[in-house]
Amino acid sequence: MLRIAIQTKGRLHEETMQLLAETGIKLEQSKRLLLIPARNFPIEILFLRDDDIPQSVADGVADIGIVGENEYAEKQKNVRIAKRLGFSRCRLSLAIPKEEEYDGMAWFEGKVIATSYPGILRDYLDKQGIRADIHVITGSVEIAPGIGLADAIFDIVSSGSTLVTNHLKEVEVVMQSEAVLIANPHLSEEKLAILDELLFRMEAVQQAEGKKYVLLNLPTVNLDQVIEILPGMKSPTIMPLAKEGWSSLHVVVDEKRFWDIIGKLKALGAESILVMPIEKMIP
Ligand code: PRP
Ligand code: ZN
Repeated sequence: MLRIAIQTKGRLHEETMQLLAETGIKLEQSKRLLLIPARNFPIEILFLRDDDIPQSVADGVADIGIVGENEYAEKQKNVRIAKRLGFSRCRLSLAIPKEEEYDGMAWFEGKVIATSYPGILRDYLDKQGIRADIHVITGSVEIAPGIGLADAIFDIVSSGSTLVTNHLKEVEVVMQSEAVLIANPHLSEEKLAILDELLFRMEAVQQAEGKKYVLLNLPTVNLDQVIEILPGMKSPTIMPLAKEGWSSLHVVVDEKRFWDIIGKLKALGAESILVMPIEKMIP
């Protein structure tokens, strides 16, 4: 049995639960809210505050955990990143009142900066040779300048709307962050095998992301030209149609390039184009 720590609520919760569902893991209906076993996979889920996840994985209270890279970097615990997950992307930035004139890092010399990430901030300031006062606040950091508690803040920025609402502007991006799967460095063989299976399933879900399965019919004489439009993609499957001189083509297309490619295919006589979502892809 492998125990995974995930956030009770907040930024990562929804997307983590969705990822687990996509890997086919179904949870037991349970009255206990803190620790819920899966019905069909040897894993149990421990719900924690994100701030506590790196420590609990380092201690072995949980074997693995899903947490923002920002928390992982701040807590400096003895855990390893087993996989970068690519969701909950955000950045950790310095922000100052928007009417301030900003002339580079020197602005922060002697200033008071409010943050929940003192470790990452201290490191950054030291590297830049800036002496500033760090005030640790655990929630609503963004209101600190407005109420005279600090001159600036260092916090998570995602859409940027929290900064706008609080009349702040982002002036330095210190680190990029995304959800990561962290693991205790001393897992047993048995637990490592379960982790491997979990990683394999996550990989299949990630591979399929942003990809579409496209089926279409086209005149066989244009096949070579069509295949030229599709370089770099998984080789297409081609089948003859009952209708003389026509073929059916199946191909996996990157969603980003979809409209571009479909336009060209239509110009080459493609018809009956079907576009379907892909749930999982196993290479
Ligand atoms: C973070 C951060 C800001 C907000 C920024 O809080 O403290 O309040 O997100 O997001 P935005 O740029 O999209 O407005 P979060 O909701 O992650 O809660 P937490 O800091 O308490 O974990
Ligand atoms: Zn938090």
